[in-house]
Amino acid sequence: MNSATKSSFSIVLISFLLHVTSVATLALSPRTTNSSKAGLAWPNGNSNDISQYLTTGKVSWYYTWSPDAVSSTNIEFAPMLWGNASTNDFTSTINNTISTKNVTAVLAMNEPDNVGQSNLTPQQGAELWTQHLEPLKSQGIRLGSPAPTSAPAGKTWLQNFLTACNNSCTVDFIALHWYDINATAFIDYLEDFHNTFQRNIWVTEWACQNYNGGSQCSQEDVNLFLNATQSYMDSSDFVERYSYFGAMENLQGVNEDNALMSTSGQITALGKQYIGEEAPQNSGSGNADGPYAPGGTSGSYMLEWSLLSLVLGFMAVFFATNVAQVLV
Ligand SMILES: *[C@@H]1O[C@H](CO)[C@@H](O)[C@H](O)[C@H]1NC(C)=O
Ligand SMILES: *[C@@H]1O[C@H](CO)[C@@H](O)[C@H](O)[C@H]1NC(C)=O
Ligand SMILES: *[C@@H]1O[C@H](CO)[C@@H](O)[C@H](O)[C@H]1NC(C)=O
Ligand SMILES: *[C@@H]1O[C@H](CO)[C@@H](O)[C@H](O)[C@H]1NC(C)=O
Ligand SMILES: *[C@@H]1O[C@H](CO)[C@@H](O)[C@H](O)[C@H]1NC(C)=O
Ligand SMILES: *[C@@H]1O[C@H](CO)[C@@H](O)[C@H](O)[C@H]1NC(C)=O
Ligand SMILES: *[C@@H]1O[C@H](CO)[C@@H](O)[C@H](O)[C@H]1NC(C)=O
Repeated sequence: MNSATKSSFSIVLISFLLHVTSVATLALSPRTTNSSKAGLAWPNGNSNDISQYLTTGKVSWYYTWSPDAVSSTNIEFAPMLWGNASTNDFTSTINNTISTKNVTAVLAMNEPDNVGQSNLTPQQGAELWTQHLEPLKSQGIRLGSPAPTSAPAGKTWLQNFLTACNNSCTVDFIALHWYDINATAFIDYLEDFHNTFQRNIWVTEWACQNYNGGSQCSQEDVNLFLNATQSYMDSSDFVERYSYFGAMENLQGVNEDNALMSTSGQITALGKQYIGEEAPQNSGSGNADGPYAPGGTSGSYMLEWSLLSLVLGFMAVFFATNVAQVLV
């Protein structure tokens, strides 16, 4: 081997080793990194300052329940076809949005199993998908499923939608919403959806909100619920992205303790927790599994307790007064 051959052999060897190393690194890295999972479900357009959520770099994407992006940010936008009423707006703008906003993924219909939302049969869903979403595959876009509610009808809707598609809908990941008060139940729900649908998951709305009657989460329950659910998703290998409900001045009937934004448009302490700027505020009175869990502060329990104290107080005063009278 002359020295020229030797050095070119070394170069080949080194580049072979480098190649093996980078292939190994690629093979070992997870499909997505957790640093890019957190997003904003953002209905505010440019009327609130989105940059106050971007100071830590933890928030990397947003959606607006529409095909319309916000001009005041360059983080990744995920356009949505909300429902049948929004097809014209979607179709006339989506190509331009994809090319000007670095879009990689598009979201489909919002809560189709909910009559108050996009309200579609699985067959209508498949029809809209075939017409407006499937054609985007030719532009390399990843497509998210219609996002069902967490009512039992939601999962059934999604199963029937896939059946109605006859295998002709390319659903790259499952989008879903979840509202209830127990972080462990939330995690169980995500694992069930992952097992059932065998796809990665985007949680595009979730909050500590009781729609089944009874107590709502206290602020500390919410702080711990968000911490537990977000930590789980950050380290999960099948949750790709999530966006909490919500970053808006008015939570539209959802327990206001979930607000990431104050009623005057400023980021809240919970918002700072969400973006990783502050640790969860925790004095020990809350529970991630909600107001009924040990340590959780049930609203009705607190009310009963304060009524009981009031009654006991009156009894004590009454007793003391009468005993005093007897003694006099
Ligand atoms: C990523 O996950 C790890 C392990 O759960 C966690 O320690 C880290 O803080 C996460 N990073 C971000 C940016 O969320
Ligand atoms: C799109 O990506 C390019 C190149 O990475 C970047 O310069 C540009 O700011 C991005 N545009 C938007 C709207 O995110
Ligand atoms: C959008 O782009 C696709 C692919 O290039 C094209 O087939 C389609 O006609 C375009 N739609 C509109 C409304 O221009
Ligand atoms: C969408 O709405 C139009 C107008 O009301 C209706 O004719 C059409 O059947 C609807 N399509 C679906 C898929 O629901
Ligand atoms: C699935 O097949 C049925 C029966 O052939 C048909 O009516 C329906 O339009 C198909 N759905 C889609 C999304 O192609
Ligand atoms: C937040 O979640 C992490 C991960 O589960 C946990 O280690 C930590 O104790 C939680 N913080 C609080 C205040 O509960
Ligand atoms: C929270 O959910 C888990 C899993 O479903 C359940 O085992 C637990 O009892 C629930 N906790 C409360 C306080 O309801």
